[in-house]
Amino acid sequence: MGDRLPAFAVSSARLRRDLEHVAGYGATVSGGVSRTSFSAADREVRAWLAATCEQAGLVMRTDGVGNVFVRLDAPGAPAGAPPVWAGSHLDSVPEGGRFDGALGSLAALEVVRRLAEERVPLRRPVEAVVFADEEGNYHHLFGSTALARGFTSDELGELRGRDGDLLVDALRGMGFDGAAATRTAVRPGDVHAYAELHIEQGSVLESAGAAIGVVTAIVGMGGGHLEFRGRQDHAGTTPMPMRRDALRGAGELLVRLPDVARSVSDDAVVTCGILHVEPGGANVVPGVVGMSLDFRDPERSRLLDLEEAVVAAARDAAHRHDLEVAYTRESITDPVPLDPRVQELVATVAACHGMETRRLPSGAGHDAQNMARLAPAGMIFVPSVGGRSHSPAELTTWEDVEAGANVLLGVVHALATE
Ligand code: GLV
Ligand code: MN
Ligand code: MN
Repeated sequence: MGDRLPAFAVSSARLRRDLEHVAGYGATVSGGVSRTSFSAADREVRAWLAATCEQAGLVMRTDGVGNVFVRLDAPGAPAGAPPVWAGSHLDSVPEGGRFDGALGSLAALEVVRRLAEERVPLRRPVEAVVFADEEGNYHHLFGSTALARGFTSDELGELRGRDGDLLVDALRGMGFDGAAATRTAVRPGDVHAYAELHIEQGSVLESAGAAIGVVTAIVGMGGGHLEFRGRQDHAGTTPMPMRRDALRGAGELLVRLPDVARSVSDDAVVTCGILHVEPGGANVVPGVVGMSLDFRDPERSRLLDLEEAVVAAARDAAHRHDLEVAYTRESITDPVPLDPRVQELVATVAACHGMETRRLPSGAGHDAQNMARLAPAGMIFVPSVGGRSHSPAELTTWEDVEAGANVLLGVVHALATE
């Protein structure tokens, strides 16, 4: 399988044009994009996608939570033949880059277009899938989680965005079929296989001089929230030794996080990306500080050790500054191995193109980890210049974009014709 490449390639000029065009939706002055899910920019990019599909004669549908499917039927295939899915996401983190998610989504669209243009006889349908809210404006990997396990209406009703708004209001505002939002889950076996092209977001491929990464597994990750509580006081009249400053506890914990991570493993990482200081006045001693926590490790047992070590360090910091601290776990996601057969296929297709490959795990989360619950799933990485991502500095060369898209084409072609 995969040792017969299609006799045609992607249109790299069209893919580049699409990527450059899409980078205009939510473009920031710093050269990146802020296209958080269900924002005005997200709405605009969805409208562009719908118009592009219509022009290309492709059928597009959107499910109740905003996942988009662009379908290429396989005439002659048995009715209900499970499709091959290829995809990624078009939402971004705030002040993110142009390639994270957009590359895999637009390359999947390009693959569907090329298969359609070449009238390839398929044994099963192919769908380009754009997953909703991968970056977790409301819930990390939201759309693919909705497909892999579904959400109850109670769960959906509780989800709020970074700005505090309700997800259900956002879905309604986007015009999605709220009634169908709890019926998005598909069964294992309803999808034949899944492939995702993505930028590496690290520097392994660049350092190794490899054009293509064959992704072996996706890291385990956890999310949580810490709240330090002290006493709100006057900044001018409260002597330093008498303060119960909640930010001192949070600050001490932040400084200790590198040691805490290192105490668990060399691969462990912990990040606080959101800090809420209350009441938030320059002349007020902070009474309450809320901290987001994102922690990751490739091994599940170490992930749990990491969470425990962070919470112990938080308790210690709170104790030292006469504070209270409460921890709420929001999620734990096991590390996910990717399908060995799809890994082999990616490696074979890349080798047939004469491309240098390197096997590596992903330190970032991806919709592929949810798809792996439904079907054999694999990922193709292309190099990120300087390893930069989740930043406007994100960059992948057009040569690498083309290489990755052609590997995706070869992989999807093999999966859809095998
Ligand atoms: C997704 O981008 C993640 O790894 O947080
Ligand atoms: Mn991302
Ligand atoms: Mn991504």
